[in-house]
Amino acid sequence: MRILFLGDVMGRAGRAAVAETLPRMKAAWKIDFAVVNGENASNGAGLTPDHAKGLLEAGADCVTLGDHAFDQKDMLQFIEREPRILRPLNYAKDAPGKGHRVYTAPGGRKILVAQALGQVFMKRPFDDPFSALDTVLRTHTLGGLVQAALVDIHCEATSEKMGVGHFCDGRASVVVGTHTHIPTADAQILPRGTAFQADAGMCGDYNSIIGMDPAEPLRRFVTGMPKGRFTPAMGAATLSGLYVETDDRTGKAVRVEMVRQGGRLAPAGPAPLPDAP
Ligand SMILES: [Fe+2]
Ligand SMILES: [Fe+2]
Repeated sequence: MRILFLGDVMGRAGRAAVAETLPRMKAAWKIDFAVVNGENASNGAGLTPDHAKGLLEAGADCVTLGDHAFDQKDMLQFIEREPRILRPLNYAKDAPGKGHRVYTAPGGRKILVAQALGQVFMKRPFDDPFSALDTVLRTHTLGGLVQAALVDIHCEATSEKMGVGHFCDGRASVVVGTHTHIPTADAQILPRGTAFQADAGMCGDYNSIIGMDPAEPLRRFVTGMPKGRFTPAMGAATLSGLYVETDDRTGKAVRVEMVRQGGRLAPAGPAPLPDAP
């Protein structure tokens, strides 16, 4: 199975780049299943139902969220009606929606997608992601119930993300980090067959401070005092993420490539992307 994962879509610039480029990526790279993290797509904070529909129409087969899952209040109801959107497994006991689901890829192949929040340096104390993921992976065995499994580990610390990678090694096809908005250069296949990258990076304008126009965050760093609001940077976005090929029989990864397309970062991917028509 050919799986594409794109990291946190940041504001209008990120949404526009997804709408323009995701369909071309899916066609050029023959993607079977695309997962997009949408937790910052609406003005940098959460995801409105309209913007969720935009990501799905652009070709996301599943949209994951994160600590910003319900910053847009309409998502509280919308997530109950739209099974292609997932919130973190360990967000809160009574949160609406689900943290994992099994989806059907072309040919009837089944893919599990799950998301968990980390605990290190996060603003709120979330439940243990390891036990939450363990429960899901035990009941969705690779090469058994599902042909592939993707885990989005949404947290700050690369150490915790690598911990989740090794914890899931051999039990998930892909473990990919989100939340920091900066891609790490460690894409690899772990010893037991799980493709891993500590952070996918964002789909946003990298002339920014993690996707926000730099002026206000820089002012707060320098003076320690807020003056205005954070607003998403509006320059051309780089779509950032991970491309993974898996063996349908075992569910293990056989190829992994970092993905960066458009905007300011050097391009990367499984093959050059043809220019827009
Ligand atoms: Fe984010
Ligand atoms: Fe986040």
